[in-house]
Amino acid sequence: MAFETIIVETEDHVALIRLNRPDALNALNTQLLGELCTALEEADANDKVRCIVVTGSDKAFAAGADIKEMSQMSFVDVYTTNLFADANDRIAAIRKPIIAAVGGYALGGGCELAMMCDFIIAADTAKFGQPEINLGVIAGMGGSQRLTRFVGKSKSMDMNLTGRFMDAEEAERAGLVSRVVPAKKLIEEAVGAAQKIAEKSMLTAMAAKEAVNRSYEVPLSEGMLFERRVFHSMFATEDQKEGMAAFLEKRAAQFRDK
Ligand code: CAA
Repeated sequence: MAFETIIVETEDHVALIRLNRPDALNALNTQLLGELCTALEEADANDKVRCIVVTGSDKAFAAGADIKEMSQMSFVDVYTTNLFADANDRIAAIRKPIIAAVGGYALGGGCELAMMCDFIIAADTAKFGQPEINLGVIAGMGGSQRLTRFVGKSKSMDMNLTGRFMDAEEAERAGLVSRVVPAKKLIEEAVGAAQKIAEKSMLTAMAAKEAVNRSYEVPLSEGMLFERRVFHSMFATEDQKEGMAAFLEKRAAQFRDK
């Protein structure tokens, strides 16, 4: 499908999706969110893709939901259309791993989009924030919920109540991002991580993603049971036999997603 607000390149089993509304710092309007969800779903369904990277520009991953578009909406508009529910649900349903490669601003919906991905690699230029309070609203795509799980109550309250930005170093210290790299190396590092994931058994990568995500939804005992049952089920796969045999034979595993 032809897109107008994103650019998709697929190479070496990795789909790289670039948000591309430079005049609006990649603000997430209805069109961009729709195209992003479609591109993610296409990548999820494409056998050649084994991992996905979502990124923006050097200046902005995304500066939030599109304020111009939202400014004229009424309560009835946003409530009846259930604004942002569709994007949240469609992104959460993607089963292949998604890495957010964040340079520059990741604010409001931009920070929330990064948190919807499976992990975040940040450039040293990255700035995260939930400044919705300055607009007379609160976060609407996970800034009060996911951010609190990432960084804890105190820092999440600070971000959501003051609207201040957090730089990459603070974000790494707080556990929001998994690594910080020089801005020039951001795409190389994120695509490199995606290629590493692409070498694994896709079955196992999807199961690992599902198990980690489960930990956000259920109490520890249920999460441990889910993990153990999924772990047990991996013993029904050829990739488990191959992975363990390869280790014992001191060779690289040849996974076949079976
Ligand atoms: N929506 C629409 N347009 C936006 C935008 C947004 N979120 N963020 C930036 N833009 C536009 C600006 O209006 C400007 O357009 P014009 O040139 O046509 O005026 C262009 O992008 C460049 O922006 P600035 O001139 O403001 O650039 P700057 O370098 O001076 O500042 C910034 C950068 C600090 C990111 C500033 O643009 C900013 O504060 N943006 C808004 C951030 C924000 O409040 N985000 C939360 C949105 S609400 C939300 O996301 C709800 C939710 O939870 C889902």
